[in-house]
This record gives sequence, C-alpha cells and structure tokens, in this order.
Amino acid sequence: MNFDFTEDQLMIQQAAREFAEAEIAPTAVERDKNAEYPTEIIKKLGELGFMGMMVSPEFDGAGLDAVSYVLAMIEFSKADASVGVILSVNNSLVCYGLEKYASDFIKNKYLRPLAKGEKLGAFALSEPEAGSDATQQATNAYKDGDHWVINGMKNWTTNGTSADYYLVVAQTEKEKAHHGITTFIVEKGTEGFSHGVKEDKLGIKSSDTCSLMFDNVRVPEENIIWEVGKGFNFAMNTLNGGRIGIASQAVGIAEASLEASIKYAKQRKSFGTEIANHQAIQFKLADMAVKIENSKLITLKAASLKDAGKKYVKEAAMAKLYASKIAVECALEAIQIHGGYGYVREYLVERYLRDAKVTEIYEGTSEIQKIVIARELLKG
Ligand code: CAA
Repeated sequence: MNFDFTEDQLMIQQAAREFAEAEIAPTAVERDKNAEYPTEIIKKLGELGFMGMMVSPEFDGAGLDAVSYVLAMIEFSKADASVGVILSVNNSLVCYGLEKYASDFIKNKYLRPLAKGEKLGAFALSEPEAGSDATQQATNAYKDGDHWVINGMKNWTTNGTSADYYLVVAQTEKEKAHHGITTFIVEKGTEGFSHGVKEDKLGIKSSDTCSLMFDNVRVPEENIIWEVGKGFNFAMNTLNGGRIGIASQAVGIAEASLEASIKYAKQRKSFGTEIANHQAIQFKLADMAVKIENSKLITLKAASLKDAGKKYVKEAAMAKLYASKIAVECALEAIQIHGGYGYVREYLVERYLRDAKVTEIYEGTSEIQKIVIARELLKG
C-alpha cells in the first residue's frame, strides 16, 4: 500500500491551498454574514480549471483524478465550506454524471461550458415529499412530439438561483416505479421554469439553495440524460461520487477547526500559562487530529477505488457518514477550546459548526448512508 501522493496530486493540492488562502479565506466571514454568493471566486476557479476537475481534456476539463479532487476540495472547504459545496455539486453531481452517462450532443453543448466554469450546474432530485425516499418523485414529464413536458417542484437545490443548467429528475412512467424515472437537462430561462427565493440557512450561507418550479416546461428529447427510465439509476450512481465530494468538504471543515484551535491554544493563557500546556486541551487536540486523519484516509480510499475503476459505493457512503460526523465533533470541540470566544461571531469557529451540520444531511443523510453501507454488506 502506498500512502505517497504523486507530484501532480501534490501540485494540485498546493495550487488549491494557495488560491484558498489568498482569494477565498480573507472574504469568507463577510460573505457568510451577508449570505453573499462568491461570484468572482467561482469565476476565477473556473478559469483555473477547478469547476471541471475530473472532466477529461477532450471535453474541456482538467483531467484530474478523484484523489486530486479530494485534496483540492479539502483546501477550498477549509477556507469556506460554501465554496466547497458549489464546487462539489458542479464537479461531482453535474459534470461527472454528464461525462459518464450523457450523449455526445449533451457533452458538447452543456458539459464543455460547465467544465470550463463558463456555466454553472445544479442537481434537482429532492422534492417537498421526496427527500431520503428519493424514488417518490412527484415531478413528472410526458412526451409531446419531439419534446417532453415537465411539471412539478424541487426543493433544496444547491446552486438553485445561480445555475445555468439543471439536471432534473422526473417520473415518466409511474407504473414502473423507480425504473420509470428519467433525468433531463433544463436550461435557465426555459418558459415555465422558475426558482424560489434563497433559503435562509443555518450555515453554508454564501451558497444558494432554493426551490424550483416547473409549469409545463418543454424540453427537447435530446436533453434526456442516458435514457428514458434510467433517471433514478443515474441519480444514485452520480450521488456516490457526490458523497466523496461532501466527505472532502467535511474533512476541510474539521481541519479548519483543528487549525483554529491550535492557533488559539498557543495564544490564550489561563492559570498562568498558554492553554496549549493544559492536558485537557492537548487531549482534545489529539482526539481531533486522529479523527481527521481517519476521515481523510477513508475519503481518499473511496477516491482511489473510483480512480482504479473499482466499486466504491460502500466506501463513499462510509466516507460521508464518518467525515461529516467528525466535522461536527471537531467544530464543537473547537468552540469548547475557544470558550466564550467560540460562541461569538468574531471568531471563526461558530461558522465551522453551522457549516458542518449540513454535511450530515445533504447528498443523503447519515441514516441513508448507513442503509447504503448495510445493503452493500448484506450483498456479500
Ligand atoms: N449506487 C448505485 N445504485 C444505487 C444506490 C447506490 N448508492 N442506491 C440504490 N441504488 C439503486 C439500486 O441498485 C436499485 O437499482 P435497480 O432496481 O436498477 O437494481 C435502485 O437504486 C433502487 O434501490 P432500492 O431498491 O434500494 O431503493 P430504496 O427506495 O429502498 O432505497 C435509497 C433507495 C438508497 C434510500 C435512495 O433513495 C437514496 O439514496 N436516498 C437518498 C437520496 C439522496 O441522497 N438525496 C440527496 C439529494 S441531492 C442533494 O442533496 C443535492 C444538493 O444540491 C447538495
């Protein structure tokens, strides 16, 4: 087993770290306060190739492996988890799914600008009555000539107001249950397609999340991704990669919590010495470091399996389940170490807790990850 990163992987990590420290971190607090979308940052990330990291150069992507993607995602999320989720959705849910399953027509028309960061993507699966139980799609589509007509509503769509292209999952043959679900790509501005207001969230406040409404939205037949009836399998297969992205985001938040704690512990004095000299603090730091190392290893293992073309369903679910739990635990410990200062906005760590919590919810709750893991185990 080799734990060394390649030269290329280290280079990507370094480039992501430098960009995150110089361009993302300095304005993260302000953006969080104002729930402001990081428009300029996302534009620059696109120019640098980070919006289509794993897309092959043939379709204008950076052609990186999943391990490099994890390393970059950790750095960006450490600086600002909102930037992390915007990237994760565009890279793992939208670009990856399109490159793997869509037609050349879709790849040429939609994937290229998404991979270059000229356009932004969103993934619309969840609905008011279909969150964890994603097979229960009420959004439906029927065929009308060479078009399909979509009606319904989606909830909790990341990049919901800012995206240009939306992957929309809809029921097309109800009697076939989840084998009667189809995924379409819908352009912003299509008649009858609108979005709700930005949700006022607990955390990841500078990413935008909203509902989507479809009122007789006509989409050409060629905008079907993969094929009719494959939309649910498309969503599930794509979410496996998405879960590696969210696990990486969670690792980034946990690392940020530890770094802030170490810095504070070396400055803050109590009982005549820096608090870093108290065992009570040292034990917390050590526990956080061990948990983060485990989170990172399990996430990198899932990414390595993906790179090797092996099955990674169970490992991706394990990575998301574990890394999200550790992100919440580390953010809580960081607040405890900071004491009263941890509870006020002046210090960064309260944001880490608010940002961490959602990693246990989106792209499959922790409870869903356990179901996925258990089913994989029971398959033998
Ligand atoms: N990978 C690949 N295929 C999977 C899969 C996985 N992880 N999980 C299920 N499937 C496949 C099954 O193999 C089965 O396929 P076939 O019938 O073709 O063989 C099909 O999906 C149905 O599976 P089940 O019979 O197990 O269905 P179920 O209803 O009992 O359970 C579920 C399905 C695993 C609970 C699924 O509904 C699920 O993952 N729910 C969570 C949904 C989710 O993650 N939502 C996140 C929304 S996206 C988001 O958050 C975006 C954002 O903007 C951040």
